[in-house]
Amino acid sequence: MQTGKDAAVAEYLKNRSKAEKLHEQAVRLFAAGGATHSARVMDPFRPYITHAKGSRKWDVDGNEYIDYVMGHGALILGHSHPAVVKALEEQVAKGLLYGDNHELVIEWATLIQKMMPVAERIEFCTCGQEANMMAIWLSRIFTGRKKVLRFAENFHGWGEELVRKDSPGVYADNVDVIPFNNVDAAATALATKKYAILMTEGGGAHMAGQVPISDELLYALPKLTKESGTVWLLDEVVTGFRDTQGGFQALKGVKPDLSSVGKCMGGGLPVGALLGRADIMESLSPKAPKEKRIGHSGTWNANAAVAAAGAAACRLYLDGAPQEAARARGNQLREKGNEALKARGISGRLYGRTIIHPYFGPLDFEPTDASMAPTRDVKKITDPTYGPIRDRLVLHMLNRGVSALTAIGSAYFVMSSAHSKEDVDKTVQAFAASLDAMLAEGSFPKALLGS
Ligand SMILES: Cc1ncc(COP(=O)(O)O)c(C=O)c1O
Repeated sequence: MQTGKDAAVAEYLKNRSKAEKLHEQAVRLFAAGGATHSARVMDPFRPYITHAKGSRKWDVDGNEYIDYVMGHGALILGHSHPAVVKALEEQVAKGLLYGDNHELVIEWATLIQKMMPVAERIEFCTCGQEANMMAIWLSRIFTGRKKVLRFAENFHGWGEELVRKDSPGVYADNVDVIPFNNVDAAATALATKKYAILMTEGGGAHMAGQVPISDELLYALPKLTKESGTVWLLDEVVTGFRDTQGGFQALKGVKPDLSSVGKCMGGGLPVGALLGRADIMESLSPKAPKEKRIGHSGTWNANAAVAAAGAAACRLYLDGAPQEAARARGNQLREKGNEALKARGISGRLYGRTIIHPYFGPLDFEPTDASMAPTRDVKKITDPTYGPIRDRLVLHMLNRGVSALTAIGSAYFVMSSAHSKEDVDKTVQAFAASLDAMLAEGSFPKALLGS
């Protein structure tokens, strides 16, 4: 029998023989270690899913999971919500892609505008990063400036002006990146008046705020961007329709010039949209002066299938009930999970609202605001030394029937309205048992014990 660290991997493999065979094929097909998304890369491999419903997912080997991947954050209603399935089934019979106008798009856009008043105008596209690319283009025309200002760690997609500047093969000379949560750095950069757009992730960097945005920065940005004539984009691809029906901006009472949305807006189908001020979006009008006019194509823009699913989901988002339910379950996981960490003297905390972030590292303070990390130091939150601990936690929890969203070194528990109190109770049990197993196998460095 294997002991220590190998035992958990051996157990994982023992219960996933069919998945292992599929993985062997996958590595010959998909360059990214057999995965189809950088957040699906895992050592040895992630499970192969056959079907999902509500809060659950099942894999080819017959394992059942309480799912916290939740469609990379898109499924605040859980898997296959009956209203979304019904709308989609009805639409499939009527046609998927008209390549023309249709009524559903009016209803969908009206619901979006009602929930997010930033949407004086709406431009549909197929995913979140396309909306961000459109935001850059429109801001450049509106301001007559070329440069893009972004915060470190903030994620906006993989396009050239969105991805990390130091990635190989990226030549984003017009992009400047400044330290996150540093108001002085933002004020100094913006005062140069050379930026067309400032991009900020809703909630903070990584999945609604693994590195939470400070109130100090958030509330400084409307004035700083206005004074410098820079368009302020709040990227609500993750937080839109999730944090509240009006997104993170409604939660915090701020109004950006533009907002990108996606994920939850499509009810589980691929989608993105740019929402924003009519004067900035005017360049999309055929009546705009020639030197300011742009055309936006996109075969799949607002196709009938996604509009049907999106409108069905947005009808449910309107009263805020799904968001409240997801937040309540998030509170439960965070509070009970933190009791488990404290009882074991582990220097780590869970924090977040409807996406719960596990942190392992030095505790600088005990946060009173549940969405805040126990440190303000960005480096501590993203310290790669502690990434393997999160990877290990994900593996142990998969062994215990809980599937967290992961990218190597990160883990996220994405809550939905489909998670029940009992689901979260079971998750907390799996979390506590995983911590015990990790303590026994020596996964925590001494510095993180006895706190
Ligand atoms: C904050 C944020 N912006 C943009 C994107 C890109 O969205 P998409 O994957 O739909 O292109 C993501 C994706 O996770 C995201 O988290």
